[in-house]
Amino acid sequence: MTITHGSNQEILGRDELDDIEAILAVTNTDADEIEHAVKDNADALFTWDYTLARPALRKLYEKSKNSQWNGSTDLAWDTPVDIEKIIAYDMENSLTGFDREFYGDTVVGKWDDAKWLQFGVDQRRWMLSQFLHGEQGALLCTAKITETVPWYDAKLYAAQQVVDEARHVEVFGRYLEEKWEGNFVVNAHLRMLLDDIIGDSEWDMTYLGMQIMVEGLALAAFGFMRQLTTEPLLNQLLRYVMADEARHVAFGVLSLKEVYDGMSDAELRTRQEFAYEAAVRMRDRFLSQEVWELHGVNPRDIVPVVLQDPTRAVFQQMLFTKIVPNCKKLGLLDRNESWLRRRFEEMGVIQFEDLEDTGEEYDKLSIEATAPA
Ligand SMILES: [Fe+2]
Ligand SMILES: [Fe+2]
Repeated sequence: MTITHGSNQEILGRDELDDIEAILAVTNTDADEIEHAVKDNADALFTWDYTLARPALRKLYEKSKNSQWNGSTDLAWDTPVDIEKIIAYDMENSLTGFDREFYGDTVVGKWDDAKWLQFGVDQRRWMLSQFLHGEQGALLCTAKITETVPWYDAKLYAAQQVVDEARHVEVFGRYLEEKWEGNFVVNAHLRMLLDDIIGDSEWDMTYLGMQIMVEGLALAAFGFMRQLTTEPLLNQLLRYVMADEARHVAFGVLSLKEVYDGMSDAELRTRQEFAYEAAVRMRDRFLSQEVWELHGVNPRDIVPVVLQDPTRAVFQQMLFTKIVPNCKKLGLLDRNESWLRRRFEEMGVIQFEDLEDTGEEYDKLSIEATAPA
C-alpha cells in the first residue's frame, strides 16, 4: 500500500471515511482499567515576561474570576430524576436522535417497547459518560497548557480553566452517580483522541485538539441537549457548564489566531490534518458501538444502518456548528488549497462556516445572559 502525505490512510489509518470494519476495529481492550497513563512529551515553560501583552486574554481571565460557581450548592441536586420517564418521553417526541421506524427491517426490528426503552436509557447514560470522560480530558489538557504555553496571560487563564474543568468533572460525575446509576467506560475513539491531544509535544496542538475541537463539539452538543431536554436538573447543569465552555473555546480561538496567522503553509498543514483527525474520531465515537454490544447486537450488523439514519445525520451535523466557524476564524479552512474545507465538505458540515465564531459570542452564553429553565 502506498501511503501519501495527508491521505486518509496516513491520518486515520483507513482509506475510506465510512470504512465500518476499520471503525469498529478500534475497541476498548481494557475496559476494567482504573488508571490510564499517557506520555506528555513536552517541556514545562517558565516565562519571566510578566507584562500583560494580550488584552483579549486578560479580559477573559477577569471574566472567568467573576463567573465561578459552586457545583455543590448552585445546582438543585434534590431534583428527582426519573430516567425511564425521561427516555420514554424523548422516544415519543423523536428527541433521542434515532428514528425507531428506520430500524424495522434490521436485527433490532423485533425489539419491543421495553427493550427500546432500556436501550435508550443506556444510550443516554453512555453519552453523558463520554461527556464526563471528555471533561477529565479537558482538566488534564489545561493543566498541561498551563505548563507549556509560553505566554504569561495564557498561563493565568489556563489555570482558571483547570478549576472550571474540575467543577465539570465533579458535576457530571455526581449527576451520573446519583441520577443515572453510574457511568459507562470511555469510548475507544474518544480515548485515542484524548491520548493524542495530551501526548502532542507542540503546545498549540493541545490547544487546537482540546479548546477548538473537543470543547467546540461539547459546546454544540450541550447546547443541543439543553434545548431538547425536559429534565430540569440537567438543563440547569448544562446552562452553568456551557457558560464556562464558551469562555474555554474563546480562549482557544483568541490564542491560536495569533499563532496560526504567523505559521508557514507546511506547519499549518499539520494543524489542518490534526483538526480533521479529531473531527473524524469524534464522529466515530458517536456511533456508540459499546451500547449496541451491551444489548446483544453485533455493531457490524447495525452501524451501517445507523450511518444511513436521516435523524441521526441531523444530530451528527449539529455537533459541528461551533467547530467549523472557529476553524474558519483561525484560517484553517482555506490555507493549502482549502484542504480542510474539502474534508469538511466530505463530512457534510461545511454549511456552518459562516455562523458566529465563539471568540465573538462567548458573552452571550454567560450565566447572566442565559435564561434559567
Ligand atoms: Fe468542561
Ligand atoms: Fe472546557
